[in-house]
Amino acid sequence: KIKAAVFASGTGSNFEAIMKAENVACEIALLVCDKPGAKVIEKAERLGVQTFVLNPKNYPSKAEYESEVLRAVRKHEVEWIFLAGYMRLIGPTLLEAYEGKILNIHPSLLPAFPGKDAIGQAFQAGVKVTGVTVHFVDEGMDTGPVIAQEQVPILPEDTEETLKNRIQQVEHVLYPRVINQVVADSR
Ligand code: GAR
Repeated sequence: KIKAAVFASGTGSNFEAIMKAENVACEIALLVCDKPGAKVIEKAERLGVQTFVLNPKNYPSKAEYESEVLRAVRKHEVEWIFLAGYMRLIGPTLLEAYEGKILNIHPSLLPAFPGKDAIGQAFQAGVKVTGVTVHFVDEGMDTGPVIAQEQVPILPEDTEETLKNRIQQVEHVLYPRVINQVVADSR
């Protein structure tokens, strides 16, 4: 099976959805986490996935931080990288090594509401429709060619919490499906 790594900084619900999806086209060989103590680390350990946790503050530059990450993913023969709530821009070191092989999921219909707290941004803006985007990663923040998008309505009775739940339910189905499609198409 083709090997992949998930990069995450937070709770890891998308990581878990990828792990638990049926017939996923690749094996998740490694979780890379830039936030020591993040919940996603326990999830990976429980699911028997190797973890590589590092604190960017301990590296003099982004290039050196990413070189360390690169060594880890290469050691695990990782071919694909799936960002799942990895709240950090990918720099040239990783982009050049994994050109066209890094995907991201973002909780809005990009290019609307990029960056942090996309769900809160859409809620505050008062739009009636938001959604989820899966895209190839480039050097920008939540830019890069869109692969798939799915709309999610914002209902009059929604709170940010109910909206977040509805968006994440969509993410957990969409991301594994897109991963399968993209990995299969690349063969
Ligand atoms: C997800 O909603 C993901 O789309 C978002 O972070 C959340 C992580 O949740 N990503 C971004 O905002 C990227 N700019 P999770 O840790 O439970 O998967």
